[in-house]
Amino acid sequence: MKYSIRTRLTSLITLIYLSVFFFLLVAGALALYLGLKEEIDKKLQLERDQMIALFEADFTGLLSVTGATRDSLADDFLDDLKEMYGYKDQFVIFSVKTETGRHTYSDGGIKNVQLLLPEGFLSKAEGFYNQRLGGKFYRAVITKPNWGTLVVGMENQTFFEVADELAEILLLGVPLTFILVLLGGRFLAGIAMRPVVASAEATEKITMTNLSERLPEYTGKDEFGKLVSTLNRMIARLEEGINRVQQFTQDAAHELRTPLTTLRGELELAYQKSDLSDDLRASIQKSLDKAILMSRIVENLMLLAQSDTGNYPIQKNTFRFDELVKDAVDDMMSLVDSRPIRIRLKHCDEILLSADKQLIHRLVLNLCDNAVRFTRTGKIEVALSSDEKNVEFVIVDTGIGIPRENLPHIFDRFYRVDKARSRARNGGSGLGLSICKWIVDAHDGKILVDSEVSKGTSVTVSLPLNNSR
Ligand SMILES: Nc1ncnc2c1ncn2[C@@H]1O[C@H](COP(=O)(O)OP(=O)(O)OP(=O)(O)O)[C@@H](O)[C@H]1O
Ligand SMILES: [Mg+2]
Repeated sequence: MKYSIRTRLTSLITLIYLSVFFFLLVAGALALYLGLKEEIDKKLQLERDQMIALFEADFTGLLSVTGATRDSLADDFLDDLKEMYGYKDQFVIFSVKTETGRHTYSDGGIKNVQLLLPEGFLSKAEGFYNQRLGGKFYRAVITKPNWGTLVVGMENQTFFEVADELAEILLLGVPLTFILVLLGGRFLAGIAMRPVVASAEATEKITMTNLSERLPEYTGKDEFGKLVSTLNRMIARLEEGINRVQQFTQDAAHELRTPLTTLRGELELAYQKSDLSDDLRASIQKSLDKAILMSRIVENLMLLAQSDTGNYPIQKNTFRFDELVKDAVDDMMSLVDSRPIRIRLKHCDEILLSADKQLIHRLVLNLCDNAVRFTRTGKIEVALSSDEKNVEFVIVDTGIGIPRENLPHIFDRFYRVDKARSRARNGGSGLGLSICKWIVDAHDGKILVDSEVSKGTSVTVSLPLNNSR
């Protein structure tokens, strides 16, 4: 969708407004035109009747006299009319049928008006006509008494004057109202869309870990209110479903724990028996390794399931982080076996950290474990430093590295870059970094992994010294 609903609503409001505006304008102009026309027609009618009355009272002689007498009588008639009406914006044409033929006389604001009129105008039927003369608009009434034809015309400028003035006002008014309507429409559309935006923002924030949250209650009983309550009901159903799955994982991991421990115990006992053949011992050793891997996976699963359900009891205490790191580095040395790897604690400030000690221990162990597991030769360097607010733990190895395209996924559960390579030595389930990420998040910290294939990997964990949780 190219345009936002707000923009579309604004356009719709503006379009409707402009349509109504133009409709009213056209209707108003039409009403004005018709009103003015009626007024002018009445005036014309009245004058025409008076002229006919005058003619029939005093000038019917015109019909019978001839020559110069007729012309001077006609002049008298016109003079009388001029006296009565002034002829400012008017004209009059009267054409009489006499025994000697038709004689046409005219007078008024336009000289020789009968010559300017289109041909055959005088022969038109009785009635009112609009006529343009010399760039002006005229309204004329044609009457045909039995003695001839009488045309009375009057300038009909008023409507066009009003229209002209109106056009001037509109020239400024239309763009101004257009802008006002546009801004007003945008504002109104913004108000109308506000609950939608608020709900969208709230929806954005709802993730797997906070499914207990709901969209803000919308009190309106309209379609939008319905949508909000439907979405909220859907989130509730999702929450229930996910809770069930998480609970299942937690229960399953829990149930597997005890038999696995027993199995490990039994295998260890069997391994210690002295009367075993080499083959059998090797086979028990292999099974024991697998059982150890399985218990680790189950432990990790259990921890992640607990983190998902929010059931893990994070216990904050203050401890010496540097001592914990030193111990971890010492342990790492024993894991290296015969590989030519130098392990060095490059820098280690004395640091008092307030956090869940067990989890932080696990975080450090997981990262050390990865460094050792994925490094064949070279060195592993650990550094611990702090400023007033944060502590930074960095572990750098010269191991096999992680391809750039795999980096975004390494925190995913069960994700291993190359399944063959990590299972090769003591196996890995791909849960270690997911757990690290959870621990770091639970302590409001950050974890960054940078890596280059065949060159090595560096992991930086930054934790607040005194986090508020
Ligand atoms: N230091 C490292 N050097 C090279 N690759 C690494 C390093 N750390 C992690 N990886 C890659 O990231 C993947 C995910 O690491 P993660 O710790 O989550 O799983 P794992 O070590 O394979 O198994 P687990 O930690 O559960 O025993 C690893 O399989 C490995 O491919
Ligand atoms: Mg690991």
